[in-house]
Amino acid sequence: NEIKIFCPATIANLNCGFDVLGLCLEGIGDEMIIRKSTEKGIKITKITGADLPLETEKNVAGVAALAIIHDLDLEHGFEIEIHKKIKAGSGIGSSSASAAGAVFGINELLGKPFAKHELVDFAMKGEAVASGCEHADNVAPCLLGGFTLVRGYNPLDVIRIESPSELYAVVLHPHIEVKTSDARAVLLPMIPMKDAIKQWGNLGGFIAGLYTNDYNLIGCSLNDVIVEPARKHLIPNFDEVKNTALQNGALGSGISGAGPSIFALCKGQEIAEKVAFSMSESYQNTGITFDIHLSKIN
Ligand code: HSE
Repeated sequence: NEIKIFCPATIANLNCGFDVLGLCLEGIGDEMIIRKSTEKGIKITKITGADLPLETEKNVAGVAALAIIHDLDLEHGFEIEIHKKIKAGSGIGSSSASAAGAVFGINELLGKPFAKHELVDFAMKGEAVASGCEHADNVAPCLLGGFTLVRGYNPLDVIRIESPSELYAVVLHPHIEVKTSDARAVLLPMIPMKDAIKQWGNLGGFIAGLYTNDYNLIGCSLNDVIVEPARKHLIPNFDEVKNTALQNGALGSGISGAGPSIFALCKGQEIAEKVAFSMSESYQNTGITFDIHLSKIN
């Protein structure tokens, strides 16, 4: 009647896949405890580690939980405890972890009436409370693990993508907040055809690289000619950190989700450690505190 779950952080976009590509990170995430209650509906009973609303309708976990129980004629409800480790506005899927965790936990306690990929739709409803729009590129990898691609939103079609065994992700998280809604407001509503061609060429190349274990193809496809140029001014020292990562052997680097976190993908643990060290060094002189995380991709 009670479940304790780990809700992993995620990297959305991965440069070439704005709003469609995502990646699950190992070892960094929130904890949630969900229990059945005799009272109907959803009650958020406790939140630690962040100043977030306890009102169910204003809380991403609450809204996602309401979405999953909406169509089920249940005689009981659920209580949710959230223990945040991922900071809000960090660019590694803080709100998604809560939304995905809520629907995953409830589904488990109900005996799995829904398949994992069906949970993405419910989690997305919660995610929308935080970002102002429904996007699944964080909740999908959070629920399914590894790399995921949202092939379509209407209807929602999410695919889990295979990846080579030696890939590592490094994430540098500067301790400043960038609201997803603000980072979306700087984007242009229209893009030139020549940029769209580059972007979808890279997205195809990236997916092909993952399936064929072609690390060079993965690296040269990790480009973003549309979103990064519009957003990078929101992140102090972005260019320096990215260039340092590339000079030290990263396959590619860019903004994690809506920022301010900066990610790099690397082949092998040794290079990933070197890249993490160099990224940290290049951030020291900003005067902004940060943390850095290294994750093997499964
Ligand atoms: N794809 C979204 C964005 C992710 O970049 O706005 C934000 O969490």
